[in-house]
Amino acid sequence: MNNEIVMTDDFNWHSFQGVQKRLFHVAIKQGYQDIKLDFSNVKRAFPNGFVPLIVLSEQLRKQGIEIETVLPDDDACRHNIIESNYAAYLSPQSGHPLSSKPNALHQFSDDSSLNDLINSQVHQILERATYAEGVLQSFEWALNEIAGNVLVHAGVEHGWMQIVVHPATHHMAIAVADGGVGIPETIRKAFPEIQSDEDAIAHALKEGITSRPDFGQGKGLTGTLQIVKINAGGRLSIHSQKGRVEWLNDRLEIKGDFPPFPGTFVDIQLNTAESIEIEKALWGNFPGHPFNESLYGKDTPAGLMRMALASEATGFGNRLTGLKIRNKIENLLISAPNDILEIDFSGVELIASSFADEVFGKLALTLGFVGFGSKIRLIHINKFCRSIIDDVVQSRIVQSRVSNGH
Ligand SMILES: Nc1ncnc2c1ncn2[C@@H]1O[C@H](COP(=O)(O)OP(=O)(O)OP(=O)(O)O)[C@@H](O)[C@H]1O
Ligand SMILES: [Mg+2]
Repeated sequence: MNNEIVMTDDFNWHSFQGVQKRLFHVAIKQGYQDIKLDFSNVKRAFPNGFVPLIVLSEQLRKQGIEIETVLPDDDACRHNIIESNYAAYLSPQSGHPLSSKPNALHQFSDDSSLNDLINSQVHQILERATYAEGVLQSFEWALNEIAGNVLVHAGVEHGWMQIVVHPATHHMAIAVADGGVGIPETIRKAFPEIQSDEDAIAHALKEGITSRPDFGQGKGLTGTLQIVKINAGGRLSIHSQKGRVEWLNDRLEIKGDFPPFPGTFVDIQLNTAESIEIEKALWGNFPGHPFNESLYGKDTPAGLMRMALASEATGFGNRLTGLKIRNKIENLLISAPNDILEIDFSGVELIASSFADEVFGKLALTLGFVGFGSKIRLIHINKFCRSIIDDVVQSRIVQSRVSNGH
């Protein structure tokens, strides 16, 4: 059928552009009002393919064009597409429910929904892996800036964001998109001499360049580029209308692009194992607060972080939950090396030894007896939980002495 577009293998930015050309042909030239996107032979789904496609499909829907999707035959890929919310957002009529999983694609429409979303993202990534120094602060800073730009510059009702972490490959992908006016348009209003769309994006990336001097300082995009530049293996790519600017392999590529992307798509890739000297990226400034304050430290005295264990999980019985919580604790300690972490056991009556070992036993192993005692404070803890923890910590310390030949 003529209104069918068939995709194969990897669905990424490149494939999106091919589909965009076909959609233009089928919808605009041939005038079809219902179009079928056939993903049955697709094996892998990437945010930089699906996120822009969803932005485009929303615009087509506003013009009365409906998109039907045929999901992949491959089980893993089909689940990924459903759980990432791609299926629900691409074809709302298909009845796929929206997932609230943090690593799915989400919409934000105002500053409070954006703050909530960013906080849930920070929680998600804190427990997924451990990160080199500065990576989490950089992540939170850049995500706030790029998503905040959608609210102030794009002129749309909502933007989109998806954060995916791959612990095994030390890789984090941050995708932010909107179907708004685009960077070239806002920049050209303030700098009419700039002609091509790609030059407008490159201009927006320069320090101090803003189209709204009454409002902003032109720091968001340039700071994000600096972060990516000093993160070995970091990448940034911005597509907006007919322009594409990418930081890739240590150089900035400025290119025209066709078909134009109807809005702005920012794709940031960080290497989570490589530290980021955030002060160096952000003009000697450390962000107003380290990321963990927004989650754990609002009312705590300086030098102290607080984690309420009861709100971190619904049960404390297994190693998988333990691993997530230990990742969080290690990330908190890395981000504020001089602070003490107070873990509040209020409401936690019982913990399993496997859980306790995964969190406290292994922490004692990496921090050492003195480090553990001086950096971590357990409060409101009952006798039972304390004896379980004492026991696993002691076994780990003995184990480390044996393996060190003491
Ligand atoms: N999503 C977007 N849609 C349209 N234009 C954008 C978008 N994001 C950025 N821009 C354009 O790029 C310019 C530079 O963005 P940048 O974030 O660096 O600075 P700013 O937002 O103006 O100021 P600050 O970030 O310091 O508050 C903006 O002034 C705007 O013209
Ligand atoms: Mg900005």
